[in-house]
Amino acid sequence: MAAFADFPASQGKKVLEIGVGLGADHQCFAEAEADLYGIDLTERAVEHTRRRLALFGLSSNLSVGDAEKLDFPDESFDLVYSWGVLHHSPNTPLAIDEVYRVLKQGGSAKVMIYHKQSMVGFMLWLRYAILTGKPWLSFDTIYATHLESPGTKAYSIKEAQNLFSRFSNVKISTTLTHGDLLESNAGQKHRGLALMLARKLWPRWFIRRFLPKSGLFMLIDARK
Ligand SMILES: C[S@@+](CC[C@H](N)C(=O)[O-])C[C@H]1O[C@@H](n2cnc3c(N)ncnc32)[C@H](O)[C@@H]1O
Repeated sequence: MAAFADFPASQGKKVLEIGVGLGADHQCFAEAEADLYGIDLTERAVEHTRRRLALFGLSSNLSVGDAEKLDFPDESFDLVYSWGVLHHSPNTPLAIDEVYRVLKQGGSAKVMIYHKQSMVGFMLWLRYAILTGKPWLSFDTIYATHLESPGTKAYSIKEAQNLFSRFSNVKISTTLTHGDLLESNAGQKHRGLALMLARKLWPRWFIRRFLPKSGLFMLIDARK
């Protein structure tokens, strides 16, 4: 999602990435010569990203930290970026308040969190609610139990608007992923006959044409 991140525009700007993970996006910010800071909850991710940057002769101010309690003063950054992280944090609203706090006035937040009304969610619901005879299970429960780490959350557009209500110029879009189109490998636990059949029958053309907004990724671009 390089278009969303717009790495070149970060040149010379003070940027914080929350949840650097393996450091792929962080490397792009470093290459763009941002004044770069990055945190992750785990020492392992921070160390991995540090080594990754070093391999390319790049650097960043990396540290272990929690999105819900950022160790930076108010109004520190021009851009706070976070891809696929804040929906894993137990108190997502608190993490978003922290993003707001550390942004300079006029600074931008670029955040990807999961979108509830997605094809991935629908598939998981078919598999783990309908096929198991529990149609009453909510999408929230399905995401929390069957998508990635336990407790993973996904949001409707309205819920995301509420999460970012303190911001101005909030632009929210959703995008189809390989997962929504069953074009990538699924996790081990999802494999089996149901997935094999779904792969053959999944109406990819129809989804692209008529349900382009039913993607898992929700991209939020907001201004303080
Ligand atoms: C799915 S990975 C995404 C990593 C990276 N942004 C990417 O796109 O590849 C989620 C990362 O967020 C980190 N994380 C989860 N909760 C966090 C929190 N509250 N504060 C900081 N990092 C967190 C995890 O340790 C993990 O490295």
